[in-house]
Amino acid sequence: MTSSQTIAITGANSGIGLRATAALARAGHTVLALCRDPERSRIAISTATGNAANVQIIRLDLADPDSIHTAADEIATHGRLDALINNAAIFDLNQRTAAFTARGHELFWATNHLGPFELTARLSPLLAQAKHSRIIFVASKGLITMPLLRIRFDELDSPGWYSPTKAYYHAKLAQVMTAVSLAERVPENVAVTCIRVPAVRLDAARLATQPTVLRALYAPKNATAADPEKLAATYLRAATSTVAPQAVYIDENDRPIALPRAARNLNDRERLWSVSAEATGANAWAW
Ligand SMILES: NC(=O)c1ccc[n+]([C@@H]2O[C@H](COP(=O)([O-])OP(=O)(O)OC[C@H]3O[C@@H](n4cnc5c(N)ncnc54)[C@H](OP(=O)(O)O)[C@@H]3O)[C@@H](O)[C@H]2O)c1
Repeated sequence: MTSSQTIAITGANSGIGLRATAALARAGHTVLALCRDPERSRIAISTATGNAANVQIIRLDLADPDSIHTAADEIATHGRLDALINNAAIFDLNQRTAAFTARGHELFWATNHLGPFELTARLSPLLAQAKHSRIIFVASKGLITMPLLRIRFDELDSPGWYSPTKAYYHAKLAQVMTAVSLAERVPENVAVTCIRVPAVRLDAARLATQPTVLRALYAPKNATAADPEKLAATYLRAATSTVAPQAVYIDENDRPIALPRAARNLNDRERLWSVSAEATGANAWAW
């Protein structure tokens, strides 16, 4: 049994993030539930957690750097952060053409890679103060179907090669690479993991937002996909274990798995780190 910790999780209002928020709260941890729309999220979170007093909702839009700065400042007022779970991501297949943030970054790249990179950097001084801290990134098992995928340094923000699927997996590969790069930088008392999530049952509300064809295709897959509770348990173990993880890249059962080929390339990892730091201005890491 681990003592009570303070844990921030992004995308806390839906899917795996919602179940993880409830599981962490049940285990007695203080949960900083980061959500893009707190008003919309409040009912889901209070229902899932039984209105637990140890859950605080904080607004965070990962596609908006100002929101990241404000959320990081608010988290800092807690004076303590033991773990950060970078769970949130978009996979909106309705987004058939590339959309761009106010800073000109393609939306999937901004939300699923640059946002977590900047948030983690901003929170790193607080995480560095914890006796043991844990930083978790989330990738997708679907990456194994794209063994040749590499970071497109020629066109990171993807308009030339954009499709929502390609943009999603490109950003997920970047999450694996960022986890490996960060793990190489941190001291022993900081554990960095990237969890490779398999197909997980989507919440009905999320499925309803997908295009009709996809909903029909997804129905049988959704029936056999993993229970989000299972992944929530994986998140809980990664965020609270006092035992060092066996590897940076793990599956849903905590087993070490082979890195995607592109993530094994040190030059590409370092290049990704430096272009991400440049794009976000996140140069002030604690490590
Ligand atoms: N489900 C799967 O089959 C599967 C497979 C492989 C990997 N994964 C990964 O597992 C993680 C959780 O997936 P899930 O199935 O639980 O998905 P989900 O139910 O769609 O939840 C995604 C969460 O991300 C949030 N989010 C999206 N854009 C955001 C933004 N700009 N700022 C802040 N939050 C934002 C969503 O908030 P809103 O409610 O406001 O949109 C939602 O809370 C993701 O990283 C996903 O890529 C899932």
